[in-house]
Amino acid sequence: DAVERGEYRHYMQKEIFEQPKAVADTLESRLGPKGVLPNIFGIDSEALLGQVRQIHIVACGTSYHAGLVARYWLETHAGIAVSVEVASEFRYRDVVVPENTLLLAISQSGETADTLAAMRDSRRRGYLGTMVICNVAESSLVREADLKLMTRAGPEIGVASTKAFTTQLAALALLSLELARLRGMDQDVYLGLCAQLQHLPRAIEDSLKAEPQIQAIAEHIMHRQHALFLGRGEQYPVALEGSLKLKEVSYIHAEAYPAGELKHGPLALVDEHMPVIAVAPGGVLLDKLKSNLQEVRARGGELIVFADRTVNMDVQSARNLTVQIDGGGDFIAPAVFTVPLQLLAYHVAVLRGTDVDQPRNLAKSVTVE
Ligand code: G6P
Repeated sequence: DAVERGEYRHYMQKEIFEQPKAVADTLESRLGPKGVLPNIFGIDSEALLGQVRQIHIVACGTSYHAGLVARYWLETHAGIAVSVEVASEFRYRDVVVPENTLLLAISQSGETADTLAAMRDSRRRGYLGTMVICNVAESSLVREADLKLMTRAGPEIGVASTKAFTTQLAALALLSLELARLRGMDQDVYLGLCAQLQHLPRAIEDSLKAEPQIQAIAEHIMHRQHALFLGRGEQYPVALEGSLKLKEVSYIHAEAYPAGELKHGPLALVDEHMPVIAVAPGGVLLDKLKSNLQEVRARGGELIVFADRTVNMDVQSARNLTVQIDGGGDFIAPAVFTVPLQLLAYHVAVLRGTDVDQPRNLAKSVTVE
C-alpha cells in the first residue's frame, strides 16, 4: 500500500497529481494536429454519429457532473440538444425519446447498477444507439454499448473520484469536437478548440502549483460546519463537483448553486460563519458573477474565489481570498478549475482527520440499487 502511494500520503492526493498524465493518456492517439482522429468511438462510428440530433446523458455521482459540463459543450459547439439526468431517476421515468437521439452513459466503473439499468432499458425506448464513456474496458457497460470511448485514468483507488472525472471531461470534449466537426463547424474555430484541448494536461499541471495556497485556505475553513459553492455557466457543474468532494471527504455540509440563484434562497444563510467558494474564470458571465459575489460581501460572508489569471476580481481583503488559476481558455477551463477544488476538499479532510480514501458510508462502486 505505502509503496503504491509513493511520496503521497493518500491515494486521493496521488490521483489528483496523476491528472496531467491521465488526461494526456486519454487524448493520446485520439487528437492530432488536424483534429480528432477517425473512428475513435468504434469502427463506423461516424455513420451513427452523423445522424445524432439529440443526446440523453445518464450517470451517477461525479460522472453525472461530467455530463452536466458536456451539455454546455455539446449545445454550444455542436448545436445538439442535450438532457442530463441521474440514472436512478431516468430509469423510472417515462422518457420521451425524439428521433435520432443517442443515449450516452458516463461511468468510471462501468458497473453502477442504475446506469447499467438505464442503458439496458434504452433498448425498448427507441434510441438511435448507445454510447459509453468508461474507465474499465471489461465492464458490463462497455460490453453492452454500441459505441465506446475509454478514459485512460488507470485504477482509481480513492472512493472520491478525481482523475476519473477530468479524464471523462477530456473524452467528452473529444466527442463534442467530433460532433461539431460532423455538423460543419468552422475549420479555424475547430482547430482552435482542438489546440486548447491539446494544452489541457499542461494547464492542469500548472493549476496543481496552487497547492500551498489552497492548504492555507483549508486551515482557514476546516472548523466550519457549512460551505456554499457558486459558479455560472459551465462552471456551475464544477461548483457542484467541488461541493460533492468537500462533503464526501471532509463531512462538511456543502451545497452548490448557480450564482444567479443566490438571491432566491441561499443568501439567507450567508453570514460571517459561511465560507462562499466561487469559481470565476473569464467569459461572458463574469460581470454577473461579480455582482452576485458583491451581495455575499455586503452580508459579511467570507469569499474564497478561484479566478482566472486574466481576471481582476477586486476582492482581495482579510475576509476575501483569491487564488489565481490559469484556466487555459474558455473551453478547457471547467476541467482546469476542478483541480483546485479537489485539492481544497482533500486538505480540509486531512486537517479534520477523516478517512480520506475510504469515507464513511460510501463505496467506490455501487453495484446494487
Ligand atoms: C459512487 C462513487 C462515486 C462515483 C459514483 C458513480 O458513488 O463513490 O465516486 O462518482 O459511484 O460511479 P461510476 O463508476 O458509475 O462513475
